[in-house]
Amino acid sequence: MGYVGLIQSIGLAEIGFEVVGVEIDKEKVEKLNKGIPTIYEKGVEELLKRNLSRLEFTSSYEKIKECDVIFICVGTPQDKHGKPNLNFVFSAVESIKNNLNDGYKIIAVKSTVPVGTNRKIREILKEEEVDIVSNPEFLREGSALEDFFNPDRVVLGFENEKKEKAKEIMLRIYKSFRDKGVPFLITNWETAEMIKYASNAFLATKISFINEIGNICKKLGIDVYEVVKGMSYDKRIGKEFLNAGIGFGGSCFSKDVKALIAKAKEIGEEARILEEVIKVNEKQPLKIFEIIRRKGIDLKNKKVAVLGLTFKPNTDDVRESRAIVVIKKLLEEGAIIYASDPMGIENMRKIFPENENLKYLFDPQEAVDKSEIVLLLTEWPNFKELNFGDKLIIDGRNIVPKEKRKNLNYEGVCW
Ligand code: UDX
Repeated sequence: MGYVGLIQSIGLAEIGFEVVGVEIDKEKVEKLNKGIPTIYEKGVEELLKRNLSRLEFTSSYEKIKECDVIFICVGTPQDKHGKPNLNFVFSAVESIKNNLNDGYKIIAVKSTVPVGTNRKIREILKEEEVDIVSNPEFLREGSALEDFFNPDRVVLGFENEKKEKAKEIMLRIYKSFRDKGVPFLITNWETAEMIKYASNAFLATKISFINEIGNICKKLGIDVYEVVKGMSYDKRIGKEFLNAGIGFGGSCFSKDVKALIAKAKEIGEEARILEEVIKVNEKQPLKIFEIIRRKGIDLKNKKVAVLGLTFKPNTDDVRESRAIVVIKKLLEEGAIIYASDPMGIENMRKIFPENENLKYLFDPQEAVDKSEIVLLLTEWPNFKELNFGDKLIIDGRNIVPKEKRKNLNYEGVCW
């Protein structure tokens, strides 16, 4: 019942299915059964409460005996070699194996897993009366429920074309999407697995691409946002995911791109573009410090407001957030930090506990007022309204509206 599992559960319950959510953390189970969300995500609380009669959360795998379809939604965190750690997936598969009864079941893998994993799961379950379906998720945090109900596509990978029964059941589960005209791609396991990685790698590439263009534009005195506007009229290019700034964070992009690079290496291929996508992204938040250096500012004992701790707005998630890189560097350089975020403070505290050089303030205006330099790292809407006075503002996400910039001591990170 992590991010993916909880959204999948309440989404299917809302459509009308009876759902059992298995979660080993008993505390989470207790909360969810009372209708208390365990993640922050728009709409979750309402839908969870509304569908409690169709939802049952439990720590016991026993209950899956009563289910026809089992979705695996466990995490696949990155190991120290940049590969996804599949321990949770295989342990879930073992637990499922130990709790199957005689009837036919489908096991649908929603976790992001490298090419070849669905086949390995089949190996583990070769004796069992089950079909394995690769069903990758494409949810964005902050709009996960919206994405669940209005997906751009549904991808279903099967062992082979003969899996008519599995196909029929999976199509029935997502019937309401098909009725709305959502495109379905029916394919094999490996292709489905790759679609997920290639999609995320492409989106990450767009971001690093535009950041590179932005860096060049800035030196040439050109506004990259104007350039993107001009580019976007070309239908082949579009305007999505071309917001230049301090780069991508979050639990997926960096992990998935690295996993794809590792897979390429494993089979003796190079993934040069993808390697550069990661490198550009790692360097991008450091552009802030280039600006500071260029201005001849010594950060020792300088008071700096860090506004925006989450990896993007409308979430409390700070995983891979650019703010982590920035705070680490500011601490190394001896700055005094006033960090603010509408939702991310509690999670950031776990990474950087408060100390004499780092204070968390809920009110962003207070952080600005106490500081000499203001760093804007996440595009929370309320940051636009702040009164910056004559402080140096370094904008990492194109937050301050253009007309407001003229009267400010303002620099964009790559515009
Ligand atoms: C992403 C994918 O979009 C989703 O399909 C997948 O299933 C999971 O990973 P998510 O990580 O929730 O979703 O966030 P997303 O909205 O894609 O943004 C990721 C990061 O990229 C954020 O840090 C965001 O600020 C950054 N970003 C996004 C940019 O820097 N520029 C852009 O143009 C778009």
